[in-house]
Amino acid sequence: MRPIRLDAASYRPFVAPEEMERAADVVRSLHPTLVERRSESAMVGWLDYPSRIGEETLGGVEAIAERVRRDADVFFVVGVGGSSLGARAALEFLGRDAAAPEIRFVGEDLSPTSLVEALEAVRTRRVVLNVVSKSGTTTEPAVAFRLLREALETAVGPAEARRRIIATTDPSGGALRAMAEAEGWTSFDIPRDVGGRFSVLTPVGLLPMAVAGIDVRRVLAGARALMAAPEGTDPAADDPNRYAMLRHILYLKGYAIELFVGFTPRLSGVGAWLRQLFAESEGKNGRGIFPVTGKYTTDLHSIGQYVQDGRRLLFETFLWLEDEGVDVTVPDRAAADGFDYLRGRSLQWMNEQAMWGTYVAHRNGGVPVGRIVLRDRSPETFGALVMFFERAVALSGMLLGVNPFDQPGVEAYKANLFALLGRPGYEARGEALQAEIAALLDRR
Ligand code: PA5
Repeated sequence: MRPIRLDAASYRPFVAPEEMERAADVVRSLHPTLVERRSESAMVGWLDYPSRIGEETLGGVEAIAERVRRDADVFFVVGVGGSSLGARAALEFLGRDAAAPEIRFVGEDLSPTSLVEALEAVRTRRVVLNVVSKSGTTTEPAVAFRLLREALETAVGPAEARRRIIATTDPSGGALRAMAEAEGWTSFDIPRDVGGRFSVLTPVGLLPMAVAGIDVRRVLAGARALMAAPEGTDPAADDPNRYAMLRHILYLKGYAIELFVGFTPRLSGVGAWLRQLFAESEGKNGRGIFPVTGKYTTDLHSIGQYVQDGRRLLFETFLWLEDEGVDVTVPDRAAADGFDYLRGRSLQWMNEQAMWGTYVAHRNGGVPVGRIVLRDRSPETFGALVMFFERAVALSGMLLGVNPFDQPGVEAYKANLFALLGRPGYEARGEALQAEIAALLDRR
């Protein structure tokens, strides 16, 4: 059984075979652009990174992770967006073993609450900081790291603090790389041709995974099995590409929202990672499918009403995990609660019935529903899942006619934040923004 597969019946009957045939022709012409690295900005290093990572990097990740597991009670990942969401997804899906330190994520926002708790841990527990930023210029992680580093130096002294800081960043550019070199911190490279949200299978995600006790070689093996369709095979017949084609056809018919649904908390992190991957890759030039996420059956009791019966503008993609690795069975004893018909039934079985019941109800209510099936919670499945969606979103962006590898919209927010916080060089923008905000306040 393959670790990840697209259910062949996905989105039927909302997509006609002739529409798929037409999309297939387009995919056949676009596919070489991607795999031969002829795409717009050639940021496609993630496509074959799992096979070219090299023993030096991989062995380095494993060795440092071993040291962290020995020396730390808490391992902080300090990063945001592509620098944290992939690792979060992996840890929620695969879990961590008993020997792993607690793993916490900070630098994802500017809320004082997150930082106050983190600073307390730095003062009282043995911590290691892994600061992750491709650009080295992102405000949220930079501020968090500055505070945590200072607290760490105060707690253990500068020499010991140096041993407990690991930087994951650009191989040569940016302030973080320069600091890592100057301070002699352990550091890992984020390859130049791999963008933030495509970086989970580089040291960005691999180090936190290895610290958690996850076999990263198995993760990479799973990803390798999903790398581009072998030469001589039809790219339009392979699952990540077929999924991209199906969702693009739905988009052209006016379905502008994709609701990714997992039926287990194990997939909540994957959902958050998918949201970023698709929104940042596709949402530009006034185009793109807006990704949202949910967890069923929980959310059937909140957004389920809208999905079943509201405006017809969304389609659903179920991520169905066939084997959660644990199960619970209802005791075979009578009770007065009216649920005796479930005696001896397992939760996994009930969850599956809920999935099918929802699938049919929503489809009959006019919602295109597709399924992507995950075999199990193995490292191979996680690696395959990452490669599946990275390939799908790259092709989706190309079908839409946008560059899936940049994020100009995010840069606008970043520049405004710099200006309002008073960063040198942003004075004119800062003044204009202050005037705009004052006018907004006046109007209230
Ligand atoms: O996909 C992207 O490039 C972004 O989401 C980044 O990952 C995010 O903005 C964080 O950037 P950086 O790693 O440069 O701090």
